Amino acid sequence: MYLPLRWVFNMMSIVQFVWCGAAVHRGRPPPPSYDQSFLGIDRQNSLHLKETYNNRPIIGILAQELTENVMPLRHVAKTLTLANLGSRFSLYMSHPSLNDKQVRWERITQQDASSLLVPASNSITPDDAQDNIHQNAAQLQNQSATIVTEQSQPVIARVLNGNATYIASSYVKFVEAAGVRVVPILINQNQEYYEKLLKLVNGVLFPGGAVPIDNTSGFGRAGKIIYDLAVAMNAAGDHFPLWGTCLGFELLTGLAAEGKEIRTHCEAQNRADRLKMDKHYKKGRLFQHIPNHLLKALTTLPLTANFHHYCLTPKNFSSSGLSKVFRPLAYSFDADNLRYVAAAEAKHAPFFAVQFHPEKSPWEWVTAVGHNAIPHKAVAVEAALYFAQVLGHHARKNTHRYENTSDEISSLIYNYIPIYTGAKGSSLEQIYIF
Ligand SMILES: *[C@@H]1O[C@H](CO)[C@@H](O)[C@H](O)[C@H]1NC(C)=O
Ligand SMILES: *[C@@H]1O[C@H](CO)[C@@H](O)[C@H](O)[C@H]1NC(C)=O
Ligand SMILES: *[C@@H]1O[C@H](CO)[C@@H](O)[C@H](O)[C@H]1NC(C)=O
Ligand SMILES: *[C@@H]1O[C@H](CO)[C@@H](O)[C@H](O)[C@H]1NC(C)=O
Ligand SMILES: *[C@@H]1O[C@H](CO)[C@@H](O)[C@H](O)[C@H]1NC(C)=O
Repeated sequence: MYLPLRWVFNMMSIVQFVWCGAAVHRGRPPPPSYDQSFLGIDRQNSLHLKETYNNRPIIGILAQELTENVMPLRHVAKTLTLANLGSRFSLYMSHPSLNDKQVRWERITQQDASSLLVPASNSITPDDAQDNIHQNAAQLQNQSATIVTEQSQPVIARVLNGNATYIASSYVKFVEAAGVRVVPILINQNQEYYEKLLKLVNGVLFPGGAVPIDNTSGFGRAGKIIYDLAVAMNAAGDHFPLWGTCLGFELLTGLAAEGKEIRTHCEAQNRADRLKMDKHYKKGRLFQHIPNHLLKALTTLPLTANFHHYCLTPKNFSSSGLSKVFRPLAYSFDADNLRYVAAAEAKHAPFFAVQFHPEKSPWEWVTAVGHNAIPHKAVAVEAALYFAQVLGHHARKNTHRYENTSDEISSLIYNYIPIYTGAKGSSLEQIYIF
């Protein structure tokens, strides 16, 4: 049968189109094969590494004190109350003379609860419950009432006491985007808790936030324990990555500078900025295999979200001795044109620190006054996923694992429900509360 050449050509184009990744484009280099996956890292060893990589990695994310900076705590408590109204609940009383911070919770008897709650059954909806509460609260002399589940009561009490901790969901999604699961790491636990946990997970992420990074916060204290353990593990040949974002960057570099306060006040709040690469940036692994178009975008467009009042200048890096441990890889400039380190990496361990917030571009959408500079361009999202994959890659090189599935299941963050705080005045869309 005779086919015009043009048809044959068209049919070949279709086949190439369907086959997408395998299509050969004349004049261009072939696309990478799967063996060159992960952006070319360890390309030459990929066959070997394919067998030794841990393909069920888990990263621990360190919780942090929940403060008014995150959002008005009263709103968190209200949101929690509504979100957690489930099939089982108990009624707790607080006295109106106390403010939210001092509130005393008192569990009232089942009988009292059932007289207040009509219908007191597991079919009650949150709206019904709220209505009933409002109607029936008057029956309780001079006291205000609120309804919470058994499980959430201690959480609400902790929120109102100013003693709750949280993890922003965007960090969880950041890690999950790299095919890595998340275990929350609590603060204010004993040394043994962290020792045990770090033998089970494949890396730790220190998130951003607004608490002290020294021993006056649970975040700072837990951070130091984790850092010391991670240094020891890596020194013993156990490849254990740490990642710090924003406050986590400050924590990680501060610990590497032996706890000295080396930060400088700066103005880098609510800014989208460019990166300026250090001339030796290729000596670090963070940008070593970054695709050219991403590097070009990050260095020419304002794609990194910055929300910080502290900076590490190159001088702070060198004068503190930090430059013996960490290598600056990229810089940004604050509102007063102060040059500060935007990304850094430890020289002898897989510790990565970024002063900007890669997780905000894909996952934080709140545009409040003073919080409207997050870049959401597709290429900013792509950069975020790149950074997540670098962390994921290093977690895959670690072989720690939970001893059994039931232990793993009960530890994962899937056991917790994030609450939608973005709609309640927080700059964070969703947070997990512990
Ligand atoms: C109710 O509480 C308020 C505030 O504590 C107090 O001033 C008032 O005297 C109380 N009323 C009664 C009847 O106890
Ligand atoms: C706050 O949390 C710590 C650690 O869990 C606990 O020991 C302390 O009693 C709590 N304080 C309050 C006021 O709940
Ligand atoms: C906290 O750090 C300060 C300054 O480094 C130190 O003097 C103090 O002993 C530390 N406190 C505790 C409880 O570790
Ligand atoms: C940090 O850097 C700033 C600006 O370069 C400088 O003024 C300050 O003295 C430095 N502090 C330390 C501890 O290095
Ligand atoms: C799982 O391992 C933990 C110790 O990490 C142990 O306490 C627990 O009993 C084990 N569970 C099962 C089902 O083997």
